Amino acid sequence: MKILVTGGAGFIGSAVVRLAISRGHQVVNLDALTYAACLDNLASVADSPNYFFEQADIRDRAAVDRVVSEHAPDAIMHLAAESHVDRSIDGPEDFVDTNIKGTYNLLEAARGYWASCGKPDGFRFHHISTDEVFGSLPDDPALLFTEDTPYDPRSPYSASKAASDHLVRAWHETYGLPVVLSNCSNNYGPYHFPEKLIPVTILNAIGGKPLPVYGDGSNIRDWLYVEDHADALLLVVEKGRIGRSYNIGGGNERSNIELVRTLCAILDELRPKADGSYADQITFVTDRPGHDARYAIDASRIRRELGWTPAVTLEDGLRKTVEWYLNNEAWWRPLQQRKGVGVRLGEKV
Ligand SMILES: NC(=O)c1ccc[n+]([C@@H]2O[C@H](COP(=O)([O-])OP(=O)(O)OC[C@H]3O[C@@H](n4cnc5c(N)ncnc54)[C@H](O)[C@@H]3O)[C@@H](O)[C@H]2O)c1
Repeated sequence: MKILVTGGAGFIGSAVVRLAISRGHQVVNLDALTYAACLDNLASVADSPNYFFEQADIRDRAAVDRVVSEHAPDAIMHLAAESHVDRSIDGPEDFVDTNIKGTYNLLEAARGYWASCGKPDGFRFHHISTDEVFGSLPDDPALLFTEDTPYDPRSPYSASKAASDHLVRAWHETYGLPVVLSNCSNNYGPYHFPEKLIPVTILNAIGGKPLPVYGDGSNIRDWLYVEDHADALLLVVEKGRIGRSYNIGGGNERSNIELVRTLCAILDELRPKADGSYADQITFVTDRPGHDARYAIDASRIRRELGWTPAVTLEDGLRKTVEWYLNNEAWWRPLQQRKGVGVRLGEKV
């Protein structure tokens, strides 16, 4: 299959590109190379005859039209987005432009291309979204996000993703575009940009800096190893039912403070400090405005209908991730110089 992946130089997109190439697919990576992109994530596939790169911005309709019609993909997997909640609080406009208008541009490019090919049944537009569109859950293990949970986004990031999900559904209902959607919980693993909780914790710990935990650290997230997410996404694009959405999650709920303490314990073992524990560096900081209390995913539909199961436990995945950061300073060190990295964002409104 020839797959056009948008955002393929980002964290999850690059995992999708690497996995798709390893499975024999042809991949066209369309990416604008924003601050969050890193082409080094794709070093292992860059020389493959099945890999093509197009630097293009999904806000640029003409550029998107050109890439789609020139490469004639069998499927589009749309991951390009502004993805950092804290940045969305300080600068929501980029999120509206890329996540909403950019998705609109891609839908229109896909619709025009699909129509020009005679509307083949086999074409797929796969929109990759987040569990954050469902809002915030109370701390009750019986309550989980299902595919039928009403949308209730509460940050500029999640609102822009929710809007894009609605556009994708509308393009299916109105124009018949063969779409599939997926909403996933928090990903973690290698190549995670060093502004997100897990890499920040690891890198601040070994850098001797405070480990910032928002509020009282009680906010709960469900964590999924990024390669398990990439595997689920390829399953959805190949076998998902048209018009359907699939929730994807690891079944690994942890409060932020539990997660940070676990990372500190792994680091204490793998790179012990001269004295004390990395946990001594934990510092509680002002909470994020509108910080959602809990996300938890019911992933039974994708497990039941598509036979997906995650392969990596949270314990193994966190250990692999810490080891990867300890062994890949040449990857993360330059990224720490990028604008806004290492700075507290989204604090004041
Ligand atoms: N990270 C998570 O835990 C998570 C969980 C669920 C869903 N998602 C969704 O998965 C997708 C990928 O997330 P990620 O964490 O890999 O993001 P990321 O920020 O690491 O990567 C985003 C990529 O998109 C590119 N991009 C941004 N704006 C663009 C534009 N205007 N035109 C073209 N390319 C552009 C960037 O250059 C970057 O390579 C996003 O849609 C996000 O909403 C992420």
